[in-house]
Amino acid sequence: MTVTTRWTPEEHVHAPRSHKALEDLADLLRSAGFTGERVARLLGASSPEDLLRNSAMYALWSHDREHDLVSTMPGLLVQLFVRNGEVAEHLYLATVPAELRRILESLGLAAVEDGRVTSQVSLSPFGPLLLLSDPVFRCRTASGGKPAMVPDPDPVMPPHGSTLLLHRHLQPHGRRLLDLGCGSGALGLISQAAEVSGVDVLPRAAAFSNLNAVLNRRPAGFRTGDYRSPLGPARSVDHLVFNAPGRAPGKDESEDPELFDPARLLREAAKNIVELLADGGLAQLLLIVAVPESRRDVAGLVRDRVPKLDRITGIRVTEAKDPSLGISARAISRGHIPPGCLLVEDPVGAAALMTALRRREIHEVRPVVLSIAT
Ligand SMILES: C[S@@+](CC[C@H](N)C(=O)[O-])C[C@H]1O[C@@H](n2cnc3c(N)ncnc32)[C@H](O)[C@@H]1O
Repeated sequence: MTVTTRWTPEEHVHAPRSHKALEDLADLLRSAGFTGERVARLLGASSPEDLLRNSAMYALWSHDREHDLVSTMPGLLVQLFVRNGEVAEHLYLATVPAELRRILESLGLAAVEDGRVTSQVSLSPFGPLLLLSDPVFRCRTASGGKPAMVPDPDPVMPPHGSTLLLHRHLQPHGRRLLDLGCGSGALGLISQAAEVSGVDVLPRAAAFSNLNAVLNRRPAGFRTGDYRSPLGPARSVDHLVFNAPGRAPGKDESEDPELFDPARLLREAAKNIVELLADGGLAQLLLIVAVPESRRDVAGLVRDRVPKLDRITGIRVTEAKDPSLGISARAISRGHIPPGCLLVEDPVGAAALMTALRRREIHEVRPVVLSIAT
């Protein structure tokens, strides 16, 4: 039997012993060669960003190289924490130094059972950071060593395509940054802002982010909160960044009438975002937008969705280029979502999305960065 329980970051947030173990863990992992460049090379990706964007694909392509991977220490760590696979206990004992094993097991990040070792979390290098998160897929014996999606409706995602896309568009702005919908805390922790905080509706995400702050020795505080309610003291943030959740249709399309329409999100969040920003502040939001046939001007469309609020001094909509986070007009007219599209998980989801796009006469789906200045 393999252990597939959900790790509970909440248990470690207020435990000084866990904090010390996390700091030591980061040092040990780095000195073991678990760095972005090395991890990408081991899985055949052209760069650490390429790997983060397509991690399930590289996990699939490397499945017949498991044997080679686990023969070196960085490769074994990649098998456990990037492919979220299994390692034979005797190899783990022979390859991973006792101190690193002790820390992994004391934090519950690795579990040994029936002669196999499995990971409970993903560990992703992101620039100079190492980030803990839920695994989105696992490569276990039951799926022939190939990636199988974890059936978790609310995973705390590792940094992924949309994280990278928004990160590319962020402009440093003032001392105080808030990472809204922080997930693993990736965007807040990678920023150079002097004061970093973050909010996520999932308590688990706030807990992961706080542990990632400790792991990376970055002073930052993340908490649970909802953009539909006030996000903190008025005018207390200079720069708000938000990689906003996009919505593809569920299996039953009527469950999800919004389909990449940011109208409701902006109606619910804009007032709370603007109140939080200091005078001279900037909010940058990554939105995935379905552009209807009847109105192809995406900038005007998004701008019109922002509620009229007194303190807004400027609105800008910038095209954010990433084909894997959009669906071109050509793809819609052919009725085929290209492989590699990150907006769908599987062929069933792709078919449902295509039906919904055509029924609603959507011309294209594209990511944009909405900047709101106060
Ligand atoms: C696309 S993910 C971005 C995660 C992370 N910032 C990143 O870029 O990797 C969107 C995040 O928004 C959070 N979220 C969804 N609804 C929210 C709400 N009402 N208030 C605050 N956060 C929310 C989700 O839990 C999720 O972590």
